[in-house]
Amino acid sequence: MSLLEVKSLEVRFGHGEKQVQALYGVDLSIDAGEIVGLVGESGSGKTVTSLALMGLLDPKSAEVGGTAVLDGAPLWDERGRRRPRSKVPMAMVFQEPMTALDPVFTVGSQLVETLRVRRAMGRRQARAEALELLEAVGISDPTARMRAHPHELSGGMRQRVMIAIALACEPKLLIADEPTTAVDVTIQAQLLDLIRGLARERGMAVLFVTHDLGVVAETCDRMITMYAGRVVERGPVVEVLAEPAHPYTAGLLSALPAAAERHARLATIPGRVPPPGTEITGCVFAPRCSHRRDVCDQPQELLPHGDGREVRCIRASEIQFEGVQV
Ligand SMILES: Nc1ncnc2c1ncn2[C@@H]1O[C@H](COP(=O)(O)OP(=O)(O)O)[C@@H](O)[C@H]1O
Ligand code: SF4
Ligand SMILES: [Mg+2]
Repeated sequence: MSLLEVKSLEVRFGHGEKQVQALYGVDLSIDAGEIVGLVGESGSGKTVTSLALMGLLDPKSAEVGGTAVLDGAPLWDERGRRRPRSKVPMAMVFQEPMTALDPVFTVGSQLVETLRVRRAMGRRQARAEALELLEAVGISDPTARMRAHPHELSGGMRQRVMIAIALACEPKLLIADEPTTAVDVTIQAQLLDLIRGLARERGMAVLFVTHDLGVVAETCDRMITMYAGRVVERGPVVEVLAEPAHPYTAGLLSALPAAAERHARLATIPGRVPPPGTEITGCVFAPRCSHRRDVCDQPQELLPHGDGREVRCIRASEIQFEGVQV
């Protein structure tokens, strides 16, 4: 059994006739020390997946179904009652750290407070641990940074602070939702290095959410492509990118700058992700797929496609796409 085992995760928003389904039976597993990339264009359901696992969807408007077991213990019971968040070894970092950091308090006081609450540390011990955490996330002169307010830090530095606060909870699972989308490429490379290092050194499992396959290529061990709230492809990153099997993964890949250079233009997939509530009968990707045939007009199942891979496309073994070596 993997560290995280999610089965048939479903999310519905709203009530009664207006209720719409956003996630359709998402399965996912992550081992300790493994980084799994969750990819797809904006609106695919990546953040809804993250928030459902973290217990951050408002139960008044969102209904969560399926099961999720982290480190042997369910995140919620059969009646949907969640274990208190403080008891679950899981933490999340977001794209915009200012939404997670409190502008009023110093970096030090936020870290110390987290350590006192989550790890029951005394003030002195918490302070020492806070300094160590800031050092672990690559912040120079941590003693001075402890006294800084979030707005006094650069975007990359704030992102590191948010990761330090996440680590203060000693997570076995870190969910990182587009953590490098708002920073420049140099800072992005440093943050990806940091996250990879933390996964390896601490044996932390990471669910890495991104719309950028380039980032997945650099960071992740396995990847899951999501489309319209469904998993459409999954497998080891090296293999999926070398030979994508789903036309959607192939489309995302051809939009990568490296591939675009070879084809002399940046390809984009025409059309957009259907929002929850869109009625779909056949293949979910069919309206945007240039490989559509009559056989595609039936619901598609996620089926095995070689070793450790799965794909939701009936034509996957007939069509071949150009991939990239990573
Ligand atoms: N609270 C909500 N109520 C209704 N629809 C939502 C809610 N949150 C997200 N959605 C919809 O669910 C779909 C998936 O969103 P999201 O998971 O944020 O996509 P992304 O892959 O870009 O992270 C989008 O169409 C979004 O508008
Ligand atoms: S099932 Fe058909 S329409 Fe859907 S992705 Fe495959 S080829 Fe395209
Ligand atoms: Mg998102």
